[in-house]
Amino acid sequence: MGILNNKTALVTGASRGLGRAIALRFAAEGALVAVHYGKSEAEANAVVSEIEAAGGKAFMLQADIASVPSIEALFSRLDAELTQRTGSNQFDILINNAGVAEMVPFEETTEAQFDHHFNINVKGMFFTTQKALPRLRDNGRIINISSTVATRAFPNVTAYASTKGAVNTFSLHIAALAAARGITVNTLSPGAIDTDMNPWLKNAEGQQMVLGMQALKRVGQATDISNAALLLASDDSAWITANIIDANGGTKL
Ligand SMILES: NC(=O)c1ccc[n+]([C@@H]2O[C@H](COP(=O)([O-])OP(=O)(O)OC[C@H]3O[C@@H](n4cnc5c(N)ncnc54)[C@H](OP(=O)(O)O)[C@@H]3O)[C@@H](O)[C@H]2O)c1
Repeated sequence: MGILNNKTALVTGASRGLGRAIALRFAAEGALVAVHYGKSEAEANAVVSEIEAAGGKAFMLQADIASVPSIEALFSRLDAELTQRTGSNQFDILINNAGVAEMVPFEETTEAQFDHHFNINVKGMFFTTQKALPRLRDNGRIINISSTVATRAFPNVTAYASTKGAVNTFSLHIAALAAARGITVNTLSPGAIDTDMNPWLKNAEGQQMVLGMQALKRVGQATDISNAALLLASDDSAWITANIIDANGGTKL
């Protein structure tokens, strides 16, 4: 028996990195997974193929998460796909994961860079959740991916960090809103994880920098975050809501 048997999950940004790891893990635990992607169609297709090859269930959905019409189109397609597969457009778990991060000094941050971060990381999450909530079953789960940089100061990520502060605040308000239906809303805050987002973690200098800040002395992997997401998505976490859960190996303690 998988922990997520008979559950259905939408994972945004599931073509690569943390979203990919969450999609694979949830499917391995029995969930039907909607694998959302933006530009990486081949990678999303590979995630669905890997899930199906392992005996799991998944399908893919494209949308630019920075565009509200694109999000609306995503939910129209999600309705059709879920209804065809399960007889209902209702689902159980929303993972708001799609996001971007650019390292740029505060003084040099342009309006375009600021808007790019906020449009994807905040506006995208806001409207994805707005469209998802009426489709989420009672006792469902929303997990919003934030970041350690929302609560600890780091150089050169001010625009990005500000978006994750907004994610933390957004989660609190949605937790209050969704609680009447038993839906829990939590924020999962990774530290530095080895994904495409952090190419600097591939070299020894970057790794030493991270290990110098972390209590746990290894580089965080995408599976560290998919494991934490599974905890929050499971039925056993029904009494945990409106929390910010750090999954960062004890960064800057
Ligand atoms: N890696 C870390 O160290 C770390 C730490 C803390 C928090 N996080 C957060 O974790 C989440 C995932 O990060 P990651 O490391 O997995 O990054 P990643 O490997 O760069 O993957 C980002 C994902 O987001 C999707 N995406 C980005 N912009 C999009 C858009 N406009 N429309 C649709 N999809 C879009 C990408 O889809 P396509 O490629 O298909 O366009 C991709 O699947 C982000 O919210 C990030 O801020 C990451």
